[in-house]
Amino acid sequence: MKTQHFDLIIRNATIIDGTRAPRYTGDIGVRDGIIAGIGRLEGAGADIEIDASGLVAAPGFIDSHTHDDRLLLSDRDVTPKLSQGVTTVVTGNCGISLAHSPVPDGAPTPPLDLLDTEGGWFRFQSFRAYRETLEAQPAAINAACLVGHTTFRVATMDRLDRVATASEIAKMREMAHESLASGAIGISTGTAYPPAACASTEEIIEVCSPLREFGGLYVTHMRNEDDDIIDSMEETFRIGRELASEVVISHHKCVGTHNHGRSPETLALITKTMGKQAVALDCYPYIASSTVLRYDRLEQSSKVIITWSKPHPEFSGVDLDDVAKRLNMSRADAVEAIKPAGAIYFMLDEQDVQRILKFDDTMIGSDGLPHDAKPHPRLWGTFPRVLGHYSRDLKLFPLETAVYKMTGLTAAKFGLENRGVLKNGAHADITLFNAGTVIDAADFEDSTRPAIGIETVIVGGTTVWRDGKATGARPGRVLMRAQM
Ligand code: ZN
Ligand code: CU
Repeated sequence: MKTQHFDLIIRNATIIDGTRAPRYTGDIGVRDGIIAGIGRLEGAGADIEIDASGLVAAPGFIDSHTHDDRLLLSDRDVTPKLSQGVTTVVTGNCGISLAHSPVPDGAPTPPLDLLDTEGGWFRFQSFRAYRETLEAQPAAINAACLVGHTTFRVATMDRLDRVATASEIAKMREMAHESLASGAIGISTGTAYPPAACASTEEIIEVCSPLREFGGLYVTHMRNEDDDIIDSMEETFRIGRELASEVVISHHKCVGTHNHGRSPETLALITKTMGKQAVALDCYPYIASSTVLRYDRLEQSSKVIITWSKPHPEFSGVDLDDVAKRLNMSRADAVEAIKPAGAIYFMLDEQDVQRILKFDDTMIGSDGLPHDAKPHPRLWGTFPRVLGHYSRDLKLFPLETAVYKMTGLTAAKFGLENRGVLKNGAHADITLFNAGTVIDAADFEDSTRPAIGIETVIVGGTTVWRDGKATGARPGRVLMRAQM
């Protein structure tokens, strides 16, 4: 009998396959970027052999919520994510995407400045133009891309403080249509932020109506995550029904001290609604949020740390109380003085975070902000923190469940076929990690320290991370949704 030959064999791994099935020991054979053998492959040979004794082999992690549209082009190793074992990022969240870019005329309107404070990166006049640029200069990891309603608004409207007119809606609908026809997997909104907060439910339904034809996802940073969260959830579900689309509630959380402890109520509503329509949600494993600096967030937060400031870069990483002292101003005046800026807000309850993370259908998403001078540590720490801190140390759920929440579940919700699972015929996106040592190293003081315990990362059969650094290979692809 002819012995099997592979391009790559991973031997003696503890295989956690991304489906929540119990771990087992085995080998994984890869040919032409696809898993071509899994289990016992003793007699088989390969060009490259990796001994994974003592390590877990899991599907490469999928970051379900990112703002990596630009990072994929400006740091093609996507180091903050690759170092965590992430092999696919979902971009274009919270209404913010590089395509369809506003006509470049100086500094982008917040919150688009989370991607670029100067404006040079907003130069993609179609989703196709963005996708082709990314395909021409591939990154180390894959991307599945959403397009953002806020970007559409800024590109289309002369004033942002009102509902869009019929002709503006028609233009935005065209943008949505082009994007979905060119491979975007869905549309995101960020109605929590000023430029999109003026959009009515009807505007959103009209702009997103091409979702009916293409079957993509409706992904939302909801209008409200504090007192009116239930109304916002109902709005989200209604939009999903009108568009016949799966909805994703982004970074689900209950904001503000007097809303702490409300997650049983919100999760019960999600469970009930899931019986009637498709609902998904993601969560990051921290009690602090991060976005642009906004005065109205201060009273909901026990502590605020500045992540960047255009006029005052020296305040990156400084507590807002100290900024106010140093400027000899009230906190409110200090906010005005250092804007445009970004901040970290300590505004969540640990018990809510744990309850939401533990909820069966919650995917893990970092919501990392890669261009902040002193970013929230979730950018570099999310996935190892769930594996090491929440699963291993706090025993919130078994390791198989932790892996599922960042692989198989996410691929299924986003329609990424043959990703997120280790099985014959799946794409060979594989992360090898040490279950005993894996942990986030980034914290609020030193927020860009790479995680510990991620040994080897493979994308499409090519090794992209080894010995604590990127190999320089860039096999990343732009992923489309499977027709479902
Ligand atoms: Zn958001
Ligand atoms: Cu976000």
